Amino acid sequence: MAIIIDGKKVSADVKEQVRIETENLVRQGVQPGLAVIIVGNDPASRVYVNNKKKACEAVGFLSREYALPETTTQEELLELVRRLNGDKSINGILCQLPLPKGLDEKQVIEEISPMKDVDAFHAVNVGKIMIGEYDFLPCTPAGVMEMLNSYDIPVEGKSCVVIGRSNIVGKPMAMLLLHKNGTVTITHSRTKNLKEITSAADILVAAIGKAKFVTADMVKEGAVVIDVGMNRDENGKLCGDVDFESVKEKCSAITPVPGGVGPMTIAMLMKNTLKACKLQNNL
Ligand code: GUN
Repeated sequence: MAIIIDGKKVSADVKEQVRIETENLVRQGVQPGLAVIIVGNDPASRVYVNNKKKACEAVGFLSREYALPETTTQEELLELVRRLNGDKSINGILCQLPLPKGLDEKQVIEEISPMKDVDAFHAVNVGKIMIGEYDFLPCTPAGVMEMLNSYDIPVEGKSCVVIGRSNIVGKPMAMLLLHKNGTVTITHSRTKNLKEITSAADILVAAIGKAKFVTADMVKEGAVVIDVGMNRDENGKLCGDVDFESVKEKCSAITPVPGGVGPMTIAMLMKNTLKACKLQNNL
């Protein structure tokens, strides 16, 4: 039976550190501020944004939400981003994705000042991660690294396999594992012999977006399994990309869904916003 990696606990520890540092900043007259933009009525996005707001309040940040209607135009959205770029009380800007059809996500991301890009989605920040000289790390992959570190799971020299190649998770995840001297393989929907590759992984990260995709036969005995997925199973119950019940009997450590990677993402967003605030105030 595997160690169940407690994302809620690690997340609470990170947020507590951020809260203490924020208290000190506020004493110096500086309060970190995060602006969250949400467009349209996607119910999942609404839950995520509410959680981000709650976390901001818990750590002592100024939190501002911009809830825009589905009918918002690209120019209106870009105009809001430009206004927030110039707003001194706002240190971090996050536009919740996905945007409704017809809006260009890429253009919105590129409009956000790289200094306020607490998602680390802007090409400048992506490039900085590539060369290993970054201010911000993307929240989900950074949260995974924080959990590995917190459970003293070494990456150096390990065979790391990432399933999924998205710009938000798969690609940066691979890069962060590489920074820690892992031997990294990225797999995806066109990968041949997927099972052969995943079965050789010491650390397996699933970020595919398919409920219970990773089954026990795809996992090496004693592997560490990180589940980035957030899906609904056939009964409408929240589940990850990993078949938790079978895989937990075979691996040495595993993240549950919910209560694994999810809470970490928000904690790392708080960390990035604090860092943005300190950089913008030369602290
Ligand atoms: N949608 C799903 N995950 C994320 C995230 O980390 N950031 C943003 N902005 N949107 C998302």
